[in-house]
Amino acid sequence: MKPVKVGLLGLGTVGTGVVRIVERHQEDLMSQVGSPIVIEKVLVQNVDKSRTIDVDAAKLTTDAWEIIRNPDIDVIVEVMGGIERTKEYLLEALSLGKHVVTANKDLMALHGRELLATASENRCDVFYEASVAGGIPIIRTLIEGFSSDRITKIMGIVNGTTNYILTKMSQEGASYGDVLKEAQELGYAEADPTSDVEGLDAARKMTILSRLGFRCEVGLEDVTVKGISAVGKEDIAYAKRLGYEVKLLGIAERQNESISVSVQPTMVKASHPIASVNGVFNAVYVHGEAVGETMFYGAGAGELPTATSIVADLVAVVKNLKIGVNGLGGGGSFKERVLKSDEQ
Ligand code: NDP
Ligand code: HSE
Repeated sequence: MKPVKVGLLGLGTVGTGVVRIVERHQEDLMSQVGSPIVIEKVLVQNVDKSRTIDVDAAKLTTDAWEIIRNPDIDVIVEVMGGIERTKEYLLEALSLGKHVVTANKDLMALHGRELLATASENRCDVFYEASVAGGIPIIRTLIEGFSSDRITKIMGIVNGTTNYILTKMSQEGASYGDVLKEAQELGYAEADPTSDVEGLDAARKMTILSRLGFRCEVGLEDVTVKGISAVGKEDIAYAKRLGYEVKLLGIAERQNESISVSVQPTMVKASHPIASVNGVFNAVYVHGEAVGETMFYGAGAGELPTATSIVADLVAVVKNLKIGVNGLGGGGSFKERVLKSDEQ
């Protein structure tokens, strides 16, 4: 049984979770894919940094190309973040025939089309389940679970940091700045948390969900965005007195042949299920013409929930590798379907 060798770009919150899950669930993963999954090399910025897991020092490198161009590595797992440089790494990996799993919504929202097209040209997969709503398998669900339906609305809380902040402000009267700091310490926030609190992270996620749900091209520039930085404790308390909770909601709707997408702080009636989604949890409500209302709930950020999605993608890549359907849209490969929709 030849091992599947993984190059891991990043060993922060999510990367650490990936290593833990691959180690802890190795036997179970092997029983599903028929080969051991080995983390062969790991890209970091600082090899001397103290870490919460033991990784063989010989596996650490600060040279991304040593991983990308390593002919022994089959799959690149990208959990380092960033846009332009990271795109360059992943395009090179794909052009060399390596499959990619990424949690990078910034990259997928801005350059997803190019990455997916390059993957297709090279008969590779790009999987990105972890890029939206952490541990909720919403991307797979939109592509596969709703393939028979016509989705009319996607709405939800897709940013864990802001939901954590709003929840603590609402339930404990905590201050915005203190809770943001906490969310950063817990590993929920982006490297630059401005993208969380100003709604950009949620907008990028809504772009990805809208493309998949409505099967058409949606750009970040099509999303109306407002974050929570101007929401004060007094606004939350006032909404509460009126029977509402304030939530940062992403709302994407199909109206006739047009689609509108927005992210904004919204007063949600306390009796609505979305109002009771608290802390780092996310929820995505999907309405389809045939299925009616559905809702998906789970941890939207954090080490293990996010890594669960990454490792599930890894399993999908390896299964595709085994049956030789990479680049054909088989076994949950997302790219084929996105390209098909783009062509419509
Ligand atoms: P962290 O900041 O915790 O970790 C980033 C890792 O990448 C670190 O190990 C860092 O090295 C390494 N790194 C960053 N830049 C470079 C570089 N230029 N060269 C070499 N190594 C680099 O990020 P997260 O784990 O929180 O997030 C990673 C990705 O996952 C991001 O795209 C994020 O948006 C996404 N994501 C995060 C979630 C979360 O809950 N945190 C949830 C869903 C998606 P070093 O350790 O040496 O500093
Ligand atoms: N910063 C993001 C959030 C990480 O808080 O939702 C998960 O994508």
